[in-house]
Amino acid sequence: MEDTMSAAFNKPFVAGNWKMNLDQTQARELAVGVAQAGPDLTGAEVVLIPPFTSMAQVREALGHSPVGLGGQNCHWEDKGAFTGEVSAAMLKDAGCGYVLVGHSERRQFFGETDAAINKKLRAGHKNGLCPIFCLGETLAEREEGRTELRIVSQLAGGLEGLTGDEFERVVVAYEPVWAIGTGRTATPAQAEEVHGLIRRELSKKYGQGVAACAIMIYGGSVKPDNALVLYQEKDIDGFLVGGASLEAGSFITIIKEAIKADRKKQ
Ligand code: PGA
Repeated sequence: MEDTMSAAFNKPFVAGNWKMNLDQTQARELAVGVAQAGPDLTGAEVVLIPPFTSMAQVREALGHSPVGLGGQNCHWEDKGAFTGEVSAAMLKDAGCGYVLVGHSERRQFFGETDAAINKKLRAGHKNGLCPIFCLGETLAEREEGRTELRIVSQLAGGLEGLTGDEFERVVVAYEPVWAIGTGRTATPAQAEEVHGLIRRELSKKYGQGVAACAIMIYGGSVKPDNALVLYQEKDIDGFLVGGASLEAGSFITIIKEAIKADRKKQ
């Protein structure tokens, strides 16, 4: 397992978000399945994001494979009286190199605000984790023509006070809320439009050099049969996969499709 603080900028980045699924035995089996495919996946940066309860099993199953490990959420303080929370420092200690921050399910069901997400992002960074910073518009916002406004404000709020150097260790995940777990994937053109917008905003904030190197991944019903066309888009550098990451075969196929498309992009 790779203990990395920064993501690679020259290969597809694919993370599997297992959400609140799998017991310890199932998690171990899935991690073993992904780790065994390791030699075929070296053309990508791969990260598994299991529930906290199976973190130790997954870490052990990954052994010395280059597959990374991430947490699904963190608190912004390192420790203290925050019942039910896990800190970025604890994730680091558990072997994580990454942490998901601002997933739409956290925003939607647990009331996470841009300000809280900003604190979590900084905590992840301070503790040597690479935050995977999620953002995306709801269906209502898209239909009312407010996608751009929403994305720009989530970006500004989440990245407030973060320097260009610090941002270099952040992966941005665009996940339209209406596409998550719905089987309704954004079209490649829809995804690219928002990825392009994010890169332009990053360029305004951090300059063209930093924006050009930023890793931007797409999430929302990514499957083996749509990974290739999505990855072919200029500003899509990888994927955050939910449902299709719960089965080794489909997750591995998605990674291989991204590697294939990446060769053509170079
Ligand atoms: P999905 O989830 O692939 O099941 O749509 C993506 C995510 O929530 O990260």
